[in-house]
Amino acid sequence: MFEPRIVCFFCKWCTYAGADLAGTSRKQYPPNGVVVRLNCSGRLDPQHVLWAFREGADGVLIGGCHPGDCHYQDGNYKTMRRAAFLKRVLSDMGIEPERLHLEWISAAEGDKLVNIMGEFVDRVRDLGPLELAHAGGRGNGGAKPADKPAATKKTAAAPESAKGAEKPAARKS
Ligand code: FES
Repeated sequence: MFEPRIVCFFCKWCTYAGADLAGTSRKQYPPNGVVVRLNCSGRLDPQHVLWAFREGADGVLIGGCHPGDCHYQDGNYKTMRRAAFLKRVLSDMGIEPERLHLEWISAAEGDKLVNIMGEFVDRVRDLGPLELAHAGGRGNGGAKPADKPAATKKTAAAPESAKGAEKPAARKS
């Protein structure tokens, strides 16, 4: 059976502690997630999510403090806006937006974490492995070998066009 790879970005004050609670309470949940601990879910840059997908994640789960409980006041509201933005970007890229999920899970909600993790892994399993058709395969930074010479040519051409700019023509008085 296909086992999805999930990257979890968890706020250390809530969801990460909730995962810790689930673990110390000996709750069982799918081991598909790799957890990245953040000081606040608001620390998450949209590029982190795109990077995770590019490097092989089939799904990304973001966990933060409940609205009103963020230790940095409004970090989770920023996360909410970024998640909505990311879903549109993913959709434009041909990636199912359901592969990204944001959930508020407090440090006391170990059971909720277990449920959400199970549901999300099932959902991504149903979607199947993520195929990035235009990225030239995973783990290579998304670059095709043919892309590199073109970039080099462009760089090499730049000094030629800049010559005139270095030495401006003398003005006639
Ligand atoms: S401190 Fe947890 S989301 Fe900001």
